[in-house]
Amino acid sequence: MAQAIAHGVKTLGVLGAGQMGLGIAYVAALRAKVPVLLHDRSDEQIAKGLKLMDKLLAKDVAKGKIQEIEAKEARDRVTVIESARGLVGLRDVDMVVEAVSENLALKQSIFTSFSRELKPESILATNTSSISITKIAAATIPEGETSASELGKASASRVVGLHFFNPVPVMKLVEIISALQTSTETLDRARSFAVACGKEVTTSQDVPGFVSNALLMPFINEAIMWLEKGVATRDDIDKTLRLGMNHPMGPLQLADFIGLDTCLAIQQTLYQGTGDSKYRPSVLLERMVDAQWYGKKNGKGFYDEI
Ligand code: CAA
Repeated sequence: MAQAIAHGVKTLGVLGAGQMGLGIAYVAALRAKVPVLLHDRSDEQIAKGLKLMDKLLAKDVAKGKIQEIEAKEARDRVTVIESARGLVGLRDVDMVVEAVSENLALKQSIFTSFSRELKPESILATNTSSISITKIAAATIPEGETSASELGKASASRVVGLHFFNPVPVMKLVEIISALQTSTETLDRARSFAVACGKEVTTSQDVPGFVSNALLMPFINEAIMWLEKGVATRDDIDKTLRLGMNHPMGPLQLADFIGLDTCLAIQQTLYQGTGDSKYRPSVLLERMVDAQWYGKKNGKGFYDEI
């Protein structure tokens, strides 16, 4: 068997301290034992994220899954880069994982900044759930260069999709997506890093939604449409899938858990990226997002939570 390539990540940068970014920082610090620089444009979000990390570590200690010293060491590996310092604070990381909201323009501007601010060897990973990695990689090409120039090729070749699942500490999978420009070395190092975080890995081509969400989102959307049509109640739709098919959550509960705004953004990417009407988001989902009902993250969705 071929020898696994080392990930070479001595310091990891994580951009975005929401539920995904925080989870990624958690597994990197605890399982891969790598120092993490955590950055978000909102200091309030970072404070919230760190509180959650403390809670998760304390829970693992209480359950006897880790020793108190391991929890302390993991927490000490996480350093905050305050919002005011910007991406410059991540300059020397060997790999950065971007975990901001599902918005192509936002991600492209971040990757343009990565290519300017970070050292030229660092791997630039995105945790996008559906957006084209190839489009994101194209945003790293320095001004005045083309994708055919040596500099253009080199910067885009360091971009890769590293798709974690929520809740990151629990879900066993990372889906790795290669852009057209991604180098084999980048791909191998990203895989090796995911394994060091305690994850199993699958790979997908750079198609809208990749394997995971191209399969999951039509399922969730169909459940929402059935609720809209009155085929069954919310509870019966979810119960059918939980008890009839042994899914840990029904599709409506899962939509709330992922975030209704995130589900809609992914479905829009799928629909726009394929032109296939089977991916068209349901009107009910659109209206709920219009009403700013985002599911679990703000306590209002198919289920209400305080
Ligand atoms: N963070 C960390 N750990 C968590 C957690 C969280 N947010 N929520 C639950 N856990 C842990 C618990 O501490 C518990 O750990 P132990 O086994 O050590 O005790 C374990 O998960 C089970 O939790 P519970 O007993 O409280 O509850 P449960 O058995 O109902 O499981 C669940 C909760 C793991 C979330 C389960 O319901 C589940 O697997 N749901 C489906 C989740 C899923 O499909 N995620 C993928 C979404 S798609 C995605 O993320 C990608 C995308 O691109 C949209």
